[in-house]
This record gives sequence, C-alpha cells and structure tokens, in this order.
Amino acid sequence: MLIDKQAIAQAADCLKRGLTVAMPTETVYGLAANALDTRAVARIFEIKNRPHFDPLIVHVRSLEAASPFVKEIPALVKQIYSQLGSGPITYLMSKSARIPDLVTAGHTTVAIRIPAHPMAQALLKTIDFPLAAPSANPFGFTSPTTAAHVASQLGTQICYLLDGGPCEVGLESTIIDATAPGLRVLRLGGLSLELLEKAAGMAVTELQTSSSNPSAPGMLSQHYNPGKTVYFGDEASLVKQFSGSRTGVLAFDKLVEGISPENQRLLAPDGRMETAAARLFGLLRELGQLPVDQIICFPLPDTGLGRAINDRLQRAAARPLH
Ligand code: TXA
Ligand code: MG
Repeated sequence: MLIDKQAIAQAADCLKRGLTVAMPTETVYGLAANALDTRAVARIFEIKNRPHFDPLIVHVRSLEAASPFVKEIPALVKQIYSQLGSGPITYLMSKSARIPDLVTAGHTTVAIRIPAHPMAQALLKTIDFPLAAPSANPFGFTSPTTAAHVASQLGTQICYLLDGGPCEVGLESTIIDATAPGLRVLRLGGLSLELLEKAAGMAVTELQTSSSNPSAPGMLSQHYNPGKTVYFGDEASLVKQFSGSRTGVLAFDKLVEGISPENQRLLAPDGRMETAAARLFGLLRELGQLPVDQIICFPLPDTGLGRAINDRLQRAAARPLH
C-alpha cells in the first residue's frame, strides 16, 4: 500500500495537539488519541458517548514498544507475537503507572494491541506516544470498516480521518488475558481460536465471552445495533415467520426463497469465511438503511471465524434487559 505521507503528518499533528484521529486498522477503524494525555482520552469517551467503566485498547507499533506501559511482558505474549507478529489480537497485561486510570477504567490491567495495517504502523512510527483507540462508532452501534462509515457517524467531531480503504479482517481483535496462566480468551475476534492455539502452542483453557463477565466490561450483550431489529436464529423458522413482511436478509452464500431479493445481502458470494468476516459490519449497515422493518440472519458453522461472526450477530440481535 502506498502511504500518503502528508495525511500521516496531518494526523500526527492532530494527535500531538491532544485531538482525536480516526485510524484504519486491519480489524476495524479506531478513534485514536494520545493514551498518555487524559484530556485527549476523555474526548474519546465523549465523542463515542461511551461509559467510563469500559476500558480502551492501547495501540503500539511493536511488542518492544509496549514495555514502558506494562509491568512485564508474559512469556505467552512473547510466544504468540514471535509466531504472528502484529495482527488482530489484543493482550491484557498488568499495567505500569504510565497508563492513566481513565484508559483502563481503573483496572490494573491494560489491553495492548499491535495493529498490522500499514497506515496505523506509519502513524505509530511518526509519534512517540501510544494510542488509545476504541472502534470509531458511537457506543452500541456497528463498528466501522470503511472511512465512509466513520465519516457518516463521527465525521464532524474528529480532527482528522485517515482513509486506509476497507478493513481486511473486518472483525475486532481477539482479546486474551495474559495476566494468569493458561490461554484465556475474553473476546472472540479476527484471529480464529484455531490459529491462536497454534501460535500459543496450547489449547484455550478458558473462554469467557459472556456479557456478565466482569473482566471484559465492554462485551455487553447488546451491541452492533444497525438501526433495525435483528433476529438471529434458525433459517427455516425465521423465513417462515417474516416472509410476509418487509424483511432484510443477511445470508451466507445463497439468497433465501420467499423474500424479495433486493432486500437480501450475501456475506460470502465466494463461500469463504474470511470474506464473510470482512463484509459483515458493512452489510449490516446497508441492511439497516433499507426500507425494511427487521433483519434476519442465521448461524454460520461454529468454527474458525464463523464463531466470532456468530458472536457478533448474536449481540446485534440481543434486546435490552429492561
Ligand atoms: O480490533 C480492535 O480491537 C479495535 C481496533 C480499533 O483496535 N478496537 C476495539 O476497541 O474493538 P473497543 O473499545 O471497541 O473494544 C475493546 C474491548 C472492550 O470490550 C473493552 O471492555 C475491552 O476491550 N478492554 C479494554 N481494556 C481492557 C482491560 N484492561 N480489561 C478488560 N477488558 C478490556
Ligand atoms: Mg467497539
């Protein structure tokens, strides 16, 4: 990818002034600010309308660059990083005093991510501080996977929007808790459990991705709202239930019968799970804007990225508890 140096310089300038920048990563676009500047971090919470109990991920250019911000780098993190390098994974480690409590919502751990996207890398190499960055969407809504998604929801509120094209992975990073022994997964994401286990050289020992899990406070069950009611369940029953009404369909690789084709979108016309992951959030947004009253979608095979996609669809379909 050809990097627009001028764009990187302008984004870096905003960040140095304590302002926010939308930054492409291979997972989703992030809303970034200097993680060491509490006023800049406070702006992220304000722009996103994000509750302060929900901690932010801190982005650095390499594992070495994370050293000042953690007590130590656990052997498991070194092992995985030596196999995978930068990519769609976030490591929870014990934080050092340099990371403000606002970033971690008072937790003693900090979530560290090393994005692979060349523009994120170029930006991180231009500045001398780490970047706190949640996904660049208002709290509770679908994560952005193109610059246009960011512009439509947050455009006027950020100092600079770096356009790095559509995100290749399309699902947020897989989060692991490296503060205790074992391979403990807190969020399913863009790195499949199969690849994670291979890189870690061990099997997952704990999978804690439910909304009641206090160690990943941001994994609320209601999330990824595309603006319409979403139903996630058995294909035949949902099609039967909604075939008479204005219904959007998010199907895997084949249109369903009994519902108008213009209200249907295919996640993976090529049948590949990677394609489905990359297109998921964009298509949810598209369906949300159609003249339909609800969106129906169906579980994919629960392996590889299918598992993380199912997780996101389930959350998009979750209803408020009250
Ligand atoms: O792919 C990604 O991870 C994207 C890109 C921009 O890097 N970021 C992202 O951030 O998805 P966000 O804020 O939408 O999700 C971060 C998740 C939340 O569920 C939050 O609760 C959890 O990470 N998290 C962050 N710091 C944590 C900590 N210290 N302890 C437990 N959970 C933490
Ligand atoms: Mg998010």
